[in-house]
Amino acid sequence: MNKDFLVFAAPDIHDDEIAEVEACLRSGWLGTGPRVARFEQDFAAYKGVDPTQVAAVNSCTAAMHVSMVAAGLDPGAEVITTPLTFCATVNAIIHAGLTPVLADVDPVTMNIDPAAIEAAITPRTQAIVPVHFAGRPCDMDRIMAIARKHGLVVIEDCAHAIETEYKGRKAGTFGDFGCFSFYVTKNVATGEGGMILARDPEKAARARVLALHGMSKDAWHRFGDKGYKHYQVVECGFKYNMMDIQAALGIHQLARVEQNRERRMAIWGRYQASFTSLPIGTPAEPDDDTRHAYHLYTVQVSGDRCRLSRDEFLEAMTGRRIGTGVHYLSIPEHPYYQQRFNWKPEQWPNALAIGRRTASIPLSPRLSDGDVERVIQAVKALV
Ligand SMILES: Cc1ncc(COP(=O)(O)O)c(C=O)c1O
Repeated sequence: MNKDFLVFAAPDIHDDEIAEVEACLRSGWLGTGPRVARFEQDFAAYKGVDPTQVAAVNSCTAAMHVSMVAAGLDPGAEVITTPLTFCATVNAIIHAGLTPVLADVDPVTMNIDPAAIEAAITPRTQAIVPVHFAGRPCDMDRIMAIARKHGLVVIEDCAHAIETEYKGRKAGTFGDFGCFSFYVTKNVATGEGGMILARDPEKAARARVLALHGMSKDAWHRFGDKGYKHYQVVECGFKYNMMDIQAALGIHQLARVEQNRERRMAIWGRYQASFTSLPIGTPAEPDDDTRHAYHLYTVQVSGDRCRLSRDEFLEAMTGRRIGTGVHYLSIPEHPYYQQRFNWKPEQWPNALAIGRRTASIPLSPRLSDGDVERVIQAVKALV
């Protein structure tokens, strides 16, 4: 790759991570073991929950799949989520044998609209999966009130929201489950990785068993220094465990999570201040009494107002050696969901409009002030 290409959301890896991965490789224990246990403890401490409430897995997709199984919903039950999300949110619902139902987003916050959730509820609804889009918390007071009123399980998709808080409470601790991603582009990066946070430690324990074939003991507890222990398969699980190599990265990434957020917040603010007079949409400022994770910075580019269309903008940014992303084309734009559920994008007009105009520009803590300036100048020159 061209050396001066600004990779969109490049992870910020330091010597600490490199040394820990090397120590892990030299230790002879690469699979799920002591480093995963430490990462779980550190993550639980960061979230202010008990370590028995968390289970590390190999992706957020796995975390959501396992959480939906562990939630014990009826086969085919309806699960309401947002059309402005990554396909994994909807796929996890489908893999768990449940039926996804979409509720449109608020055009300003880009988060699922509680009024649209209410309107989508049927006698078959059993869960809500809110996604804290870009790191901005959903309206959890209203969502939890709806869940209580209708007796629904809540599984928070916190892929963007490790540092997010709503009215002093941390994202992932409102619902029955919170699911986190440590994918390369995320605020804590382990390559691939995820975490389940469950309100009920028993549900977390079940999720942990489900994430490793349904086995009652993991390898560290079978082959560790306490001597071989038999395991029992207690249900038909999956192969979703996190490795110590991944946790080696995660331990040090998590230690810098706040420092990295500060840097992204400064870049986010710099973009906001620079783009006010341009003919593009910029993200709404965070609401009072909330804490934004500043995971994505998205601009809205449309051919009606700008010199170029969104797709032309993406191409022109690449031409200027700046990586971009799209978060997201709305879920019903994709052929699989159209064919399977007969969904049409126009049924969720807010998500459709955002998905066709949105472009994410680099927001990595690795960006230098000069890189940020280069992005700003490129956007100004193009739109
Ligand atoms: C909103 C959202 N949900 C879920 C996921 C899936 O995360 P993972 O790649 O860790 O499975 C992502 C990742 O991009 C995401 O952005």
